[in-house]
Amino acid sequence: MYTTLLTELEKGTLVITVNRPDKMNALNKDVIEELGKAIDDVYTNEEIKSAIITGSGEKAFVAGADISEFIPLGYAEATALAKKGQNTFDKIENAPKPIIAAVNGFALGGGCELSMACHFRIASTNAKFGQPEVNLGLIPGYGGTQRLTQLIGKGKAMELMMSADMVGADEAKALGLVNHVVTLEELLPKAKDILQKIHMKAPLGISKVIACVNDAAKCNPLGFSNEITRFGECFTTEDMKEGTTAFIEKRKPVFKGK
Ligand code: COA
Repeated sequence: MYTTLLTELEKGTLVITVNRPDKMNALNKDVIEELGKAIDDVYTNEEIKSAIITGSGEKAFVAGADISEFIPLGYAEATALAKKGQNTFDKIENAPKPIIAAVNGFALGGGCELSMACHFRIASTNAKFGQPEVNLGLIPGYGGTQRLTQLIGKGKAMELMMSADMVGADEAKALGLVNHVVTLEELLPKAKDILQKIHMKAPLGISKVIACVNDAAKCNPLGFSNEITRFGECFTTEDMKEGTTAFIEKRKPVFKGK
């Protein structure tokens, strides 16, 4: 179905693997295009409750945008490319179902940006993060200047993007870029376990949490009032009646996403 991605649906989680291991899973136009399609599937396919994005092999998550595609580009083509990448990554960030990055190696440039577009990140001990675009006379173009600043704060984001330094998994955790660091063998099982726990919660509540937290991250001035509206909307759902009734009846709720 895809030429640059592997996909596998297991227990409601779609594992999307960027599959160009001989090119460190670099994001060429095809990968961006196919990632967009895979994420559309996450939005619309009712069998999919969540997704994991990871990279093929044991060396790289994604080592950036495909540098070989950059050389002939001028201003118009480059801005169009960045817009396309940002649209796909925004689609990940705004997905109504949880999408997490399982970072299994180098997450550089567009790879770091892809991981940051996900709702949160889990890393293996060999993961390395960085925005080394200035080494190439470039800056991040797939949202990196904005999301890295949101996630780790202005000072550290400035230093990482100006120095092009990489940080290892433990430092990334200390910075707040990743939530958990595990061995490579434990990476996908850990991501899947977290998602299984989330699958037990009310799906409409999960999608509203994503939207509200994204409002906060973007400093949306309507963040607080949107929270009030979404809180109110929960009271119109069957799942809220089920959740509160189940608590009173001392039983586990069975949510339907309605
Ligand atoms: N775009 C295109 N090709 C890439 C790539 C990228 N971002 N990253 C790696 N590759 C290719 C290499 O060109 C090489 O291809 P080849 O075998 O045909 O020569 C192959 O992947 C393996 O990479 P290599 O550099 O030989 O591996 P390494 O283990 O020595 O180094 C990295 C790994 C990730 C440190 C190094 O590949 C690198 O610095 N990549 C670029 C990172 C970057 O600047 N990203 C931001 C892009 S905007």
